[in-house]
Amino acid sequence: MPQAPLHCQFPPHFVWGVATSSFQIEGAAHADGKGESVWDRFCKQPGAIADASNGDIACDHYNRLEEDLDLIASLGVNCYRFSVAWPRVQPLGQGNWNPKGLDFYERLVDGLKARGIQAFATLNHWDLPQGLQERGGWNERNTVHRFVDYARHVQARLGDRLDGLTTHNEPWVVAVLGHEQGSFAPGIKSRGIAAQVSHHLLLSHGLALQALRADGARSPLGIVLNLSSCVPATAMPADIAAARMADARGRRWYADPLFKGCYPDEVLAELGADAPIVQPGDMAAIEQPMDYLGVNYYARTVVAASGADWDARQRGLPVTDMGWEIYPQGLADLLCLLHRDYPGLPPVYVTENGGAFKDQAVVNGRVQDDDRIAYLREHIAAVASALQQGVPMAGYMVWSLMDNFEWASGYQKRFGIVHVDYRTLARTPKASADWYRDFLKAWRG
Ligand code: FCB
Repeated sequence: MPQAPLHCQFPPHFVWGVATSSFQIEGAAHADGKGESVWDRFCKQPGAIADASNGDIACDHYNRLEEDLDLIASLGVNCYRFSVAWPRVQPLGQGNWNPKGLDFYERLVDGLKARGIQAFATLNHWDLPQGLQERGGWNERNTVHRFVDYARHVQARLGDRLDGLTTHNEPWVVAVLGHEQGSFAPGIKSRGIAAQVSHHLLLSHGLALQALRADGARSPLGIVLNLSSCVPATAMPADIAAARMADARGRRWYADPLFKGCYPDEVLAELGADAPIVQPGDMAAIEQPMDYLGVNYYARTVVAASGADWDARQRGLPVTDMGWEIYPQGLADLLCLLHRDYPGLPPVYVTENGGAFKDQAVVNGRVQDDDRIAYLREHIAAVASALQQGVPMAGYMVWSLMDNFEWASGYQKRFGIVHVDYRTLARTPKASADWYRDFLKAWRG
């Protein structure tokens, strides 16, 4: 039976967005009383960032808010996902609040509402105040309580106008890349600290949800996880077991506590003495009902028992400029797996999906990024397939609105559907932005 056109496969209330994060686009790193974040500090470490860049200017979004709001509106999306920079709102992560910081996010949210666009805010997209890092950061239980205070403060000011309030973006990245591998801020290399950090992130999510609801939360509340479908490199039992373990470490370590109130036993056993300290009541606190789950998906993970890197590029498979395999079916597989493993799964948003590609320069006002268009179309089709299979899909957000600071890769990797010229800071919608706009127009009918 021929498939309906892609845009017809989504219901009228579906949420379509573009996503960004504070540190990656705002710049104005020291403006209007903003405090230092762990990423401001990390960028100063020699060798930490591929092009030795930082977030001081980034896309200068802080100073170009109105222009960027118009840009978002011009795409025809009905949702924008952004993050609040904690050190902009509370420079040291405790004590004084910075009214100018909150004013900025209020202008952002009001500007979205005025344009008929839903506002999805994330409280922690990794830019922890450096002041808290100096007191132990996420390894320290006190940070959990500071985060709850911060969450309550943001909700008190903006909560009545938000359409989604996410506690954390990708706790795995903060824990593992930030504290085990040390390739992301704050650059710590300890498996035990990473495990404790992951527990504190999850705990702070649960306690924040409790506190926000006690305060009368009006917006839906959730968390965003980076998830991947893990598949064995071969049909050998050892590879199959290794893939299961990778899935337990990357997906179930986060999703099981949130939906089942426990950590996977096999990961606890593997961690041994590095397992986190869990106090009585912590697991119940983490397992709060959620109004939605955000899923960030970029690629599948192919796992070999030997631990050898499975390099898609070397195997001649399609990859993005990050070297990540382009595998849209993995998104449908992952969404169905979540649906199967967690009965009562709340509405699911794909909160990030997109690709870095070596875009051609702007020629006559155009960037013809056909590879990105294909990437987006195929992944949106995977979401449609998950919907058809009964997964409660609620929305899809492209990463990213515009080219930006891609963490340890600096400005070398371009994920935007809008091109940014880092010399002039001019924004130029790419062909993929036109494609997305046309797709959404067709969907609206
Ligand atoms: C995700 C991050 C996001 C962006 C994309 C490419 O892990 O949440 O900020 O860097 O990867």
